[in-house]
Amino acid sequence: MGSSGFVGSSLQYVLIQTARKLQLLQHRTLPASPGTAENGSANSNDGIKNRAMDSTNLKIAYRSLESQLSADSPSAPLIIHHGSITRFNWARLEKDPPEVIYHAARIPGRGRFSRLVAGLRGMRANTRLLSWMSHQKRAPLLVFISGSLVYGDRGTDVVFEDSQLYPISFQRQYILAERAVLSAQTKAVLPVMIIRPPWIYGPGSWFEQFYHRHIIQTGTIPAFGNGDQLMSFIHVDDLAGYIIHATEYLAGSGHSDPANNTTIHPFSHSGIPHREFVRILSEIYQKPIKWYSESWLQQKYGKTVREALTFSMKLGTRHHRIHEAYEFAWPCLKTGFTQVVEELQK
Ligand SMILES: NC(=O)c1ccc[n+]([C@@H]2O[C@H](COP(=O)([O-])OP(=O)(O)OC[C@H]3O[C@@H](n4cnc5c(N)ncnc54)[C@H](OP(=O)(O)O)[C@@H]3O)[C@@H](O)[C@H]2O)c1
Repeated sequence: MGSSGFVGSSLQYVLIQTARKLQLLQHRTLPASPGTAENGSANSNDGIKNRAMDSTNLKIAYRSLESQLSADSPSAPLIIHHGSITRFNWARLEKDPPEVIYHAARIPGRGRFSRLVAGLRGMRANTRLLSWMSHQKRAPLLVFISGSLVYGDRGTDVVFEDSQLYPISFQRQYILAERAVLSAQTKAVLPVMIIRPPWIYGPGSWFEQFYHRHIIQTGTIPAFGNGDQLMSFIHVDDLAGYIIHATEYLAGSGHSDPANNTTIHPFSHSGIPHREFVRILSEIYQKPIKWYSESWLQQKYGKTVREALTFSMKLGTRHHRIHEAYEFAWPCLKTGFTQVVEELQK
């Protein structure tokens, strides 16, 4: 779910290579197509487990599966359903029940009121999904992609998976959509895993919107607040790889038992001061840094964006084994951002 989105499209590419069968829920936008590829096999996943996918292999796999695409046949390896999470008839999955449902679909809202409505619609939609799951003989594992803004501005604190939630910024309203999932997780009635990534960087989303465009327009690197705020990162391809890795790792330890419900913090870098981040960007773009105060941010974008761009948190994890067993495709922040900038400049 959400396979056309920023996170979902990366996840979809990894799943196309690793899953035996894949069903996508297409809402408005077509699931992101990786474009053209010459040849290859859908099962060419040797050596790619537990790390992010190489994009060429993904294109090849997608092409191969695309030719077998079917909306009706339960035996097809790739099935595309159409609809909204608010109305989709989940019983349609009973023909070919999934083992895992990856949920990266977020109903968007532009302003505060619209996000409140979106959050409430998300809450109803997710309650309906969980209700369907509760009637299955063997409920699939629900992997729900949330974010770390739900922890709020935490200064220099290390935030672990069991830390208290104090949602700020966009999450003040979007967390409503997560309530039902959180409740199912806490009550341990259904198998639920919540993923809370930090700043996800890739060619799109916040990096393109608030940094790349500004840099191209002004020739300067924007830096916000006093620069002391701590940031944690993961490349969008690594996030996808990490989610599958964590799911497989926990499945091996009986995660489908709701008693083992958990939350996962995926990150490659944690606690990087904002001033260090903009210094890296300055080296990549070869442009000077220009500082903007919080009041400038608030005036230009409003409180919600100001909070998102200046909050401070060092993400930590209690799942050391999962973290250590994952081989990051982008273990160096400067190399990772250089790749993203090159993608954006194509
Ligand atoms: N982007 C980040 O840096 C970041 C950081 C941390 C956490 N996250 C979390 O990751 C999750 C996904 O975020 P994203 O950035 O990937 O969002 P996104 O790019 O806006 O993608 C949202 C996806 O949800 C789908 N969707 C929207 N309404 C739907 C509906 N009613 N029914 C079915 N699908 C629907 C969209 O499809 P259509 O376009 O077809 O409507 C799209 O595929 C969110 O929970 C977010 O909080 C993101």
